[in-house]
Amino acid sequence: MKLEGSTLLVVGGAGLIGSHTVDQLIRENTREIRVYDNFVRGRAENLRGALTDPRVKIWDAGGDILQTDILESAMDGVDGVFHFAALWLLQCHEFPRSAFDVNIRGTFNVMEACVKQGVKRLVYSSSASVYGDAVKEPMDEGHPFNNKNFYGATKIAGEAMLRAFHHRYGLDYVGLRYMNVYGPRQDYVENSWASCGCTTPERIAEPIQPGASAKLKVQYNAAAVAPFTKDVNIKFAGIDEVKTVKITGEVLSTEAFAELQKQAPKAPVKKS
Ligand SMILES: NC(=O)c1ccc[n+]([C@@H]2O[C@H](COP(=O)([O-])OP(=O)(O)OC[C@H]3O[C@@H](n4cnc5c(N)ncnc54)[C@H](O)[C@@H]3O)[C@@H](O)[C@H]2O)c1
Repeated sequence: MKLEGSTLLVVGGAGLIGSHTVDQLIRENTREIRVYDNFVRGRAENLRGALTDPRVKIWDAGGDILQTDILESAMDGVDGVFHFAALWLLQCHEFPRSAFDVNIRGTFNVMEACVKQGVKRLVYSSSASVYGDAVKEPMDEGHPFNNKNFYGATKIAGEAMLRAFHHRYGLDYVGLRYMNVYGPRQDYVENSWASCGCTTPERIAEPIQPGASAKLKVQYNAAAVAPFTKDVNIKFAGIDEVKTVKITGEVLSTEAFAELQKQAPKAPVKKS
């Protein structure tokens, strides 16, 4: 599908990845970019620059993927859809039924609306969460789905439904399994940064026990977020459960962090 001259719908387009995608699409010779978002996490502020371009509009009638008639209306005349709307990992952990409603039923609604409106291609946001704990390394796309949390389960369901929609209705799609995406505009700076920062340090430090205090070395990317210069209480997602840990942030240069990584022992491969 060519972007040139196309009308595109960005579902969840006011969020972190969605709003940056809108910025990218503006640079292409697209005809119209519609943003569909219920703003539970996304912010109009994220689109401030984009909205100065007359091709970009927020869908006025509504923006929830659970409102199927409004969703369908937003796809009228649309060539391609980017689907970013989802509840994130910790929310899915705390509210599994809502995770089901938004991430699974909502995603089904997006696919169904695409079929009804003859959308040429759907780009789906999956996640590396589908893999869960490593059963083999390096983890590649052939790695088994070893996920054990609700968030990953919804992403696996999304991928499986995409395949079924393709075979049943010919819906063309791409599914992308993002790792940890972070940067300007994320609204959960401490949590998500911690999840980025902790993934590797977990391999360096002693295993973290729920509720325990752990000294972790946290990489700091100046472009991304404010540094942890003091102790902070954060929640982050382990593979099996959500733990609360106390992090002592030690700001490291990228070079020092890379050096630490070299020295780090390999994480044990879990057998399940
Ligand atoms: N950020 C990451 O590290 C990461 C990693 C893997 C996968 N993903 C996936 O990528 C996608 C985008 O992630 P993000 O980091 O930009 O998240 P985000 O929370 O910043 O963006 C999601 C957007 O969806 C909107 N939304 C939520 N529920 C909605 C609903 N019912 N109807 C309409 N809009 C709704 C939110 O308001 C928000 O603007 C998500 O599907 C996420 O699961 C993200």
